[in-house]
Amino acid sequence: MTSTVLVTGGAGYIGSHTCLRLLECGYRVIVLDNFSNSSPEALNRVQSLTGKTLEIITGDVNDGAALNTLFARHQIDAVVHFAGLKAVGESVAEPLMYYHNNVSGAVSLLQAMQSAGVRDLVFSSSATVYGDPASLPITEDFPTSTTNPYGRSKLMIEEMLRDLYRSDASWNLALLRYFNPVGAHPSGQIGEDPAGIPNNLLPYIAQVAVGRREHLSVFGGDYETHDGTGVRDYIHVMDLAEGHVKALQWLTRKQGLAAFNLGTGSGYSVLDMLHAFERACGKTLAYQIVDRRPGDVGSCYADPTLAARELDWKAERGVNAMCADAWRWQQQNPNGYN
Ligand code: NAD
Ligand code: UD1
Repeated sequence: MTSTVLVTGGAGYIGSHTCLRLLECGYRVIVLDNFSNSSPEALNRVQSLTGKTLEIITGDVNDGAALNTLFARHQIDAVVHFAGLKAVGESVAEPLMYYHNNVSGAVSLLQAMQSAGVRDLVFSSSATVYGDPASLPITEDFPTSTTNPYGRSKLMIEEMLRDLYRSDASWNLALLRYFNPVGAHPSGQIGEDPAGIPNNLLPYIAQVAVGRREHLSVFGGDYETHDGTGVRDYIHVMDLAEGHVKALQWLTRKQGLAAFNLGTGSGYSVLDMLHAFERACGKTLAYQIVDRRPGDVGSCYADPTLAARELDWKAERGVNAMCADAWRWQQQNPNGYN
């Protein structure tokens, strides 16, 4: 029997790549998105790349009445919940907007699921919940802590899901803690399309490569890392998409609640990534080392063993593929979806 998955925020960066994989794997997909940080064009392209259709509902996860209608009209087997805001700096300036959108949005979605008897959820969490880790690599049982409202919104939702599960063990909940998602679908048709000046490293480097920005500012050259610049666990967005398929399969085995790191297990520095991108685009890219960015940690990378064992999932793509695919997307779409 075909499973039907509701994907909130399915038009966004990770959501669009996941919808593509879900369609390829034979799922029926319904997307709920308010397009506050995405374009319907991403979903048009997902449909043309797969030759399959998905249902698109324009709406907000905070609209409980719309959610109830949606669940009444469709037989939904599971929900993948991406919808949320994700800019750390903006969350510091506008905390209520983040708590409303992310935390209240999750409450409203869970209430609608509860009323409709839908119990299977995959939730987008983040490695940000580990704060500044005491040691590396990071396993799922590390203590959690956060330094900003965005991170706290993720942690609050994780805690809420644990309370929900304690109250009723029929819930079936996979909390996926993403490390640093980068790259694009190898077609170059869908990818990351940040509004304004990118906050994250790879989209910024890609815009330097395409000539939209003059140089990369490297935030800090005095970390205790092999070249002094910050180290992260970059993960290809198609590997991440596959992780969601595996998490949905895990839920069908009625597993309860668990958090999983989705990372590669390897750390790369800012300069490693810059040089990998230079190889991908065949250009030398200008950079300047500047002060550390407040709130940044020196190094962060996953121990992905639990996901390998429980989900049968492992990241397959390396940094060269991440940069080559990000570059293809950037070159073919210098202004994103516009
Ligand atoms: P994105 O902004 O590209 O996608 C989020 C999508 O949700 C967008 O299409 C947006 O329009 C939609 N949306 C936002 N608020 C909504 C609401 N109230 N109702 C309906 N739709 C709404 O972000 P992304 O990078 O694809 O991230 C997806 C999820 O993964 C987010 O929850 C994010 O916090 C989490 N995450 C992202 C990263 C990352 O680096 N990209 C890392 C860790 C976790
Ligand atoms: C950021 C968020 C984190 C979120 C994650 C994934 C902050 C403080 N943290 O993490 O909450 O979960 O994105 O979306 O914003 N860098 C530069 N120059 C740049 C941009 C980044 O040197 O112009 C460096 C950073 O200092 C870091 C690395 O590149 O060492 C990666 O940065 P980024 O892509 O922003 O991700 P994180 O900081 O890991």
